[in-house]
Amino acid sequence: MTKQIRAGVIGTGFIGPVHLEALRRLGVSVTALCDLPDRVRAAADKFGIPEAFGEYREMLRSPNLDVVHITSPNRFHCEMSLAALKAGKHVVCEKPLAMNTRETAQIVKLARGSGKVFAVNYNVRFYPAVLALHRMVARGELGDIIHVNGSYMQDWLFKDTDYNWRLLPQEGGKLRAVADIGTHWMDTVSFILGAKIASVFADLGTFHKTRRRPLGEVQTFAKSDAKMNYASYKVETEDFASVLLQFANGARGNLGVSQVAAGRKNCIRIEIYGSKKSAWWCSEEPEMLRFGNRDGANETAVRATPAFGDGAAGFMDYPPGHVEGFPDTFKMLFRNIYAAIAGGKGERLFATAGDGHQEVAVCEAIMKSNKARKWTTV
Ligand SMILES: NC(=O)c1ccc[n+]([C@@H]2O[C@H](COP(=O)([O-])OP(=O)(O)OC[C@H]3O[C@@H](n4cnc5c(N)ncnc54)[C@H](O)[C@@H]3O)[C@@H](O)[C@H]2O)c1
Repeated sequence: MTKQIRAGVIGTGFIGPVHLEALRRLGVSVTALCDLPDRVRAAADKFGIPEAFGEYREMLRSPNLDVVHITSPNRFHCEMSLAALKAGKHVVCEKPLAMNTRETAQIVKLARGSGKVFAVNYNVRFYPAVLALHRMVARGELGDIIHVNGSYMQDWLFKDTDYNWRLLPQEGGKLRAVADIGTHWMDTVSFILGAKIASVFADLGTFHKTRRRPLGEVQTFAKSDAKMNYASYKVETEDFASVLLQFANGARGNLGVSQVAAGRKNCIRIEIYGSKKSAWWCSEEPEMLRFGNRDGANETAVRATPAFGDGAAGFMDYPPGHVEGFPDTFKMLFRNIYAAIAGGKGERLFATAGDGHQEVAVCEAIMKSNKARKWTTV
């Protein structure tokens, strides 16, 4: 059924092509691309897309389009989401949903009355191990959840010369590391626990108080170059954070986030401690789910083997030992979203506009808490 649904992607930088590739792996036809006028034609030719638009409103007028994927920088998410919904399109918007809760609330309101599917691209939910944990917690297999520990660590902004639009509050939002990657962890853990974050106590830190910006635009994850010319600027967003969490179901949590953690390229670690047993997972070993026991031996379950459970059934395409990783999470997330768009009655596991709004609300509570140095309700 997904073959008859036609998609367009706005933004062809780092993550736009990941969406495009995953859609094609599912057999969805990608009919349109949009980016800045000076780069969209080359991208459309590279990927063999028939329609190329230098302005997103023009793309939304195309009749050959049912779903819009928004993979542009954060500051455009709100206006593009609202315009796409008003044009009668289904929407898959990258995270964070928008710059603040004033914007996200508008999206939630319009999405609710639209009759269209609106998804936020929290793809980490679709690692098979995360889906398995979601099911295990719902069935009470870990017991009551006591506390959750974990982190999301990266090093791509480690040097003062590393530059990206995310470093500028007007482009990415007032929170950077927490909004960019911390919300992935918080959304994932809330999804596994089936419980929202109710209050936070946060400590934010900026290691590079000033950074040097290469003159000219730089793509996400691009390396600095000795021959580049730089201009200094003051940094107003955090490089790292420690956040204590209280979930609505009474579980406690603590989260570490950093974009200046040398050697950690893209490491998500989640440890869930229940009253029956513990479960541990790390994105650097995505196929392994580990269980900790107080008395018996600890266990390791390999993806797609019986010990792994059935929580990820329907969201794995390869046998055990044939690693499914980051790009596969997009494919599986879109499988779930496009089934909903096609009118399927299966469980909707993807993040909704409401979930995206919740993450931005947690970010705002984190900023408040850091400023006031006290517990803050979301
Ligand atoms: N889910 C994930 O794992 C994940 C990973 C990376 C990025 N993201 C999110 O995806 C979004 C894009 O991030 P990125 O790293 O790909 O950024 P990027 O800078 O690499 O790419 C952004 C693209 O958008 C284009 N663009 C800018 N303004 C535009 C406009 N007005 N109209 C059309 N196109 C425009 C840029 O030219 C560029 O090609 C961000 O919101 C980010 O948080 C999500």
